[in-house]
Amino acid sequence: MVEPSGPRYWFEGRARTTHLDETILDGLAREGLPNLQRSPRYHRPRAPFCGIGQCTGCLVRVNGRPNVRACRYVPSEGDRVETENAWPSRRFDLLASFDFVFRNGIDTLHGFRKPAFLTPLFHRVVRRLAGYGEPPSAESAAGLTVAPEIRTTEIAIVGAGRSGRAAAAALVAAGVPPVVLDRRAEVPEIPGAELLLSTTATFLPGRSATPGAPFEMLGYTEPAKGVLIRAQHVVVATGSYDASLLFESNDRPGVMTGDGAMALSRAGRPPPFRRAVVFGAGSRARAIVERFGDQVSAVVALGEIPPEVVRAASDAGIPLYPRSLLCSTVGRSRISGVVIRSRGDRARATLECDALVLAHRRLPNGQLFFQAGARMGWRGGTGAYYPLAGDDGATNVPGVWAIGSASGALGPASPGSGERVASALTGGSVPMSPLERVRPDGPNELEGYYRELLREPRNGRWIACPCEDVLLDEIEAATRAGYRGVEVVKRYTGVGTGLCQGRYCLPDALLLLSIAEGRPPSEVGYITQRPPVHPTPMAALAALCPAVVSSEPTG
Ligand code: FES
Repeated sequence: MVEPSGPRYWFEGRARTTHLDETILDGLAREGLPNLQRSPRYHRPRAPFCGIGQCTGCLVRVNGRPNVRACRYVPSEGDRVETENAWPSRRFDLLASFDFVFRNGIDTLHGFRKPAFLTPLFHRVVRRLAGYGEPPSAESAAGLTVAPEIRTTEIAIVGAGRSGRAAAAALVAAGVPPVVLDRRAEVPEIPGAELLLSTTATFLPGRSATPGAPFEMLGYTEPAKGVLIRAQHVVVATGSYDASLLFESNDRPGVMTGDGAMALSRAGRPPPFRRAVVFGAGSRARAIVERFGDQVSAVVALGEIPPEVVRAASDAGIPLYPRSLLCSTVGRSRISGVVIRSRGDRARATLECDALVLAHRRLPNGQLFFQAGARMGWRGGTGAYYPLAGDDGATNVPGVWAIGSASGALGPASPGSGERVASALTGGSVPMSPLERVRPDGPNELEGYYRELLREPRNGRWIACPCEDVLLDEIEAATRAGYRGVEVVKRYTGVGTGLCQGRYCLPDALLLLSIAEGRPPSEVGYITQRPPVHPTPMAALAALCPAVVSSEPTG
């Protein structure tokens, strides 16, 4: 084994040395999947779920700054990393008694009405014991007030995946080098283009006053740098991610997305499991099976399993369970199995495993489209909203372009969509073969699946929104009480208001509401997407404000 040669930092008071450019989670996961978190209301143990900086399974406190994602943060020499949201420790959290005491959920809206004089005390106690960690220390907040850099560019590309890179390379070749942003810390260079790594960006409301650069975006670069980007065109290439799924005890450590399984085992690291059940039947499930081979103990799918996945699984001797319901997980601090049931049949079976990898469908990262005011359309096949873009990537908002899987372009079409947008932006021409996208009228197997699953007996918690510990029962109760539409149910229950900003809970919550309300998901609506796209320290945003004001053209 190669000895680590990176910086030395402190994790829960003990010194650790990392490999160079390795995140906190990369280092910890070498010893197995760590349970870093406790959930905000019931203090249930939580482990990394997505591995790509979008969930709440790996939050830690770094140098007094709360809720830093361990899967995104590369530690520096001397950093102090603590776990949070548990007392006295993440392994033995006395507050986990909430999970047993409040069997029907904590009703913070109506709880403890009588005797009335105790209501304020109840609210104070619940607020003190719930939530995510402590506010930042004065020292960590002060460290973020740095002057932002300002970039004015003709074209900004958000996302350096396959389509973003293809667009950037074509633009460089056409003599219009773009500025490219990506949230990841490690992305190969794009010769000729400026690449801002570890950077997330969000649209500023309104149009910029800078001539020729109508779009203004605020970017935040970890660990403490701001950037103000002014651009004439913004190409959104934010990609897609593996979706979550609702079932009993769906939040237990060991349940992870395909992204998580891939991310935690990148760069030759062993996967953080010995035997995983894979849920899914498409190209993503096949990629997981091919990557992990003998460490996959079964493939379970909600529908039929296509021949290419059957072949990949059979080559590795992996049993297949097509047309099955995923009913629940077994185990508390780490799953030891999953319970499935063949659809249309009452008999259940338990499959032993220490991980469940969700690879059943991919969803677009579409927050920037919503923020920009682009027209969106619901696609039943994947259960998500996509921008309604032309074949060249143009949305209905002049200057905002959609490419790659965020725009619904399917796998092999992804780089092609990048080249098309570059061509449209530079007045060139590329051969316009039809672009394969997610179809508007795809089969909606998921809806039928959920209709059947919702009839299953419920013995444990079904967590509809893991970030906020919102239960399926609470959503159903809200619907019975007459609340209709996802925006209203969000306000009433808190679903979709957590740190993942609805990425993992809202698509399925929309389907569930559509079933409960008896109308199509497109009529159930969507929540308002407010900036930022990813959680950003308030101090960093505040530090950017003077720069916005002082660099406004005057006169
Ligand atoms: S595992 Fe780090 S945010 Fe999901």
